[in-house]
Amino acid sequence: MIFVTGGAGFIGSNFVLDWLRQSDEPVLNFDKLTYAGNLNNLNSLKGDARHLFVRGDICDREQVEALLKEHKPRAIVHFAAESHVDRSIHGPGEFINTNINGTFSLLEAARAYWSGLPEQEKTAFRFLHVSTDEVYGTLGPEDPPFSETTPYAPNSPYSASKAASDHLVRSYHHTYGFPTLTTNCSNNYGPYHFPEKLIPLMIANAQAGKPLPIYGDGQQIRDWLYVSDHCAAIRRVLQDGRLGETYNVGGWNEMANLDVVHVLCDILDSLKPKADGSSYRTQITYVKDRPGHDRRYAIDARKLERELGWKPAETFETGIRKTVAWYLENQEWVADVQSGAYSKWMETNYFNREVA
Ligand code: NAD
Ligand code: DAU
Repeated sequence: MIFVTGGAGFIGSNFVLDWLRQSDEPVLNFDKLTYAGNLNNLNSLKGDARHLFVRGDICDREQVEALLKEHKPRAIVHFAAESHVDRSIHGPGEFINTNINGTFSLLEAARAYWSGLPEQEKTAFRFLHVSTDEVYGTLGPEDPPFSETTPYAPNSPYSASKAASDHLVRSYHHTYGFPTLTTNCSNNYGPYHFPEKLIPLMIANAQAGKPLPIYGDGQQIRDWLYVSDHCAAIRRVLQDGRLGETYNVGGWNEMANLDVVHVLCDILDSLKPKADGSSYRTQITYVKDRPGHDRRYAIDARKLERELGWKPAETFETGIRKTVAWYLENQEWVADVQSGAYSKWMETNYFNREVA
């Protein structure tokens, strides 16, 4: 089996769902269920013996070690993190705790487990660390995209904490020969994206008749990748990636935030026109910029294509249409997240459930 951390979050749950669509290899899904973890994302796996969910914190080394000993995974895919830049600006403490201390604790538990494996299993074992393009900092308009050799220059507490975790992972390979792989990916979008992030927030606010808040001038550029393409890249790297290497993952799709929001408004105008006939674009509102806001991200994903044959399957046009359609069909999922019902549901149905 594989051991996945953070598999109830946006990318982690997409990864688990995609994994079990393509393979019968079981997944142990280890997640703390912070505000960003939502078991509703995994509803379609109810009763599926290939998916074992365990609630826990990656900082809890004892619990992780016990689970590794018991379930003997052949790989760990590490998604668990605090992931929202704005939250890291308001309160960096949890980012340091989970992203740095948590990754350290997980590495220690994994290294102890790996050291004790028989030779063949030890050789086959992999630790794949899922990271971000934000560790490279920001680009000027004419700069080439981030490659794997671009120096790290993180600018937010979030990206600094992810950079620190990347360095720890690197050092475990270099010092202990621990079999690591790291992926640094650009902005994802798709189903189950928490509506605090740009794309799902805009889709939700548009329909609710609320303002669509654009930070600063809206000309900040991100390189958008459909989430299932990220999941496919992770599977390729896990399968055939070279130990100790890092792989950049991106969509070759740079867009300014304002253009992204215009596309969303136009799709909504055609799929769900407003009663008064006006465009959703009229709800666009400019708000104060994010402090330290990175201006441009772009990923050079040629290494992954050259070495492992990965390329995104979706264009932004196809991916964003699927995404808007998914949000229109899953209004209940969004409403549960916004009202907090998803976590209350988990409290009553999961946390406080009596042991049979
Ligand atoms: P998310 O915030 O949606 O999900 C994070 C998950 O981790 C949640 O289920 C949460 O409950 C869990 N978690 C948090 N702290 C934990 C802890 N201490 N122990 C166990 N579980 C914990 O995040 P996401 O957007 O799905 O991102 C997943 C990973 O991918 C992160 O490492 C992030 O840095 C990276 N990444 C994200 C993007 C993106 O665009 N979202 C792009 C590149 C890389
Ligand atoms: O680049 C990868 C990163 O992408 C991941 O590592 C992070 O986990 C993920 O959250 C994402 O970070 P961003 O800060 O780029 O994503 P976010 O959706 O928060 O913002 C995207 C852009 O939109 C950014 O330039 C800020 C802007 N924005 C965001 C929000 C929420 C707005 O203009 N208005 C908003 O209301």
